Amino acid sequence: MRPEFDRYISVSAKIETRDIDWEEARQVGLTEDEKFVLTYFSDIESQTIRYLRMLLQMKIAFKPEVSAFLTTWNYEEFFHGYELANLLAACGHPLEDNRIEKVKGRARLNEWLEMLFAPLLSKIFYHQFPAVYLAFGAIQEMTTLRGYERLQNMTRNPALRTLCERIAKQERRHFAWYFNHARELLEQSPGARALTRKLLQFNWVPVGAGVKNPSEVQKLFSILFSGETGRKLVNEVDTKMATLPGLEGIRLMEPYFERTGAL
Ligand SMILES: [Fe+2]
Ligand SMILES: [Fe+2]
Repeated sequence: MRPEFDRYISVSAKIETRDIDWEEARQVGLTEDEKFVLTYFSDIESQTIRYLRMLLQMKIAFKPEVSAFLTTWNYEEFFHGYELANLLAACGHPLEDNRIEKVKGRARLNEWLEMLFAPLLSKIFYHQFPAVYLAFGAIQEMTTLRGYERLQNMTRNPALRTLCERIAKQERRHFAWYFNHARELLEQSPGARALTRKLLQFNWVPVGAGVKNPSEVQKLFSILFSGETGRKLVNEVDTKMATLPGLEGIRLMEPYFERTGAL
């Protein structure tokens, strides 16, 4: 086994919540903005299994180190959504029982790669497509990570702060995995580089844009990343993605948020 493989497996776990003081969380409560952000995040986290289904179409998904990552990644993401929903409930704002089903029902075709007619394209570009998936994964994980970090700094609720810190630690690993593996595949194939660049440029949307309407995406962005913090985030993410082979100079977040008027 590769050392990287062992390292990942040994740290993967459900986020720890046994030491969280839910009563204190209830007393401090959540702001309206926090309720909105937590519901948004919980909805998105709980849809991760749909992405797993797409990722499993890749042949490389069955390479031992990739399948180990995908399994643990999905397990970790599930508990992100689950614990955020627990916090909402502890603070007196439970999500509906059938929430996951309801959100799934709202999912529009343009969510992440489904909008790309992924199954069809991935058959045509069988060898190039894994790089596309992994590059999309990298940008989504990075923006999610920054969202949790920001929420951690903004909140007055100690339980929320702890949850964000622990979730962010896992999101950081997710991002590193997607980013490094995307780079590996992009380095190997000019076709993958060209396809990834095209599809990111034409089809990338922020996390959740398929299950949330544009005004909800914009609201989330304006709560967490208003003004200068937003411009900084957008620039940082675009600059990082542009370091991947074939993506030199690419701008993804900037044009999206300029279009929506959020920047
Ligand atoms: Fe997550
Ligand atoms: Fe993640």
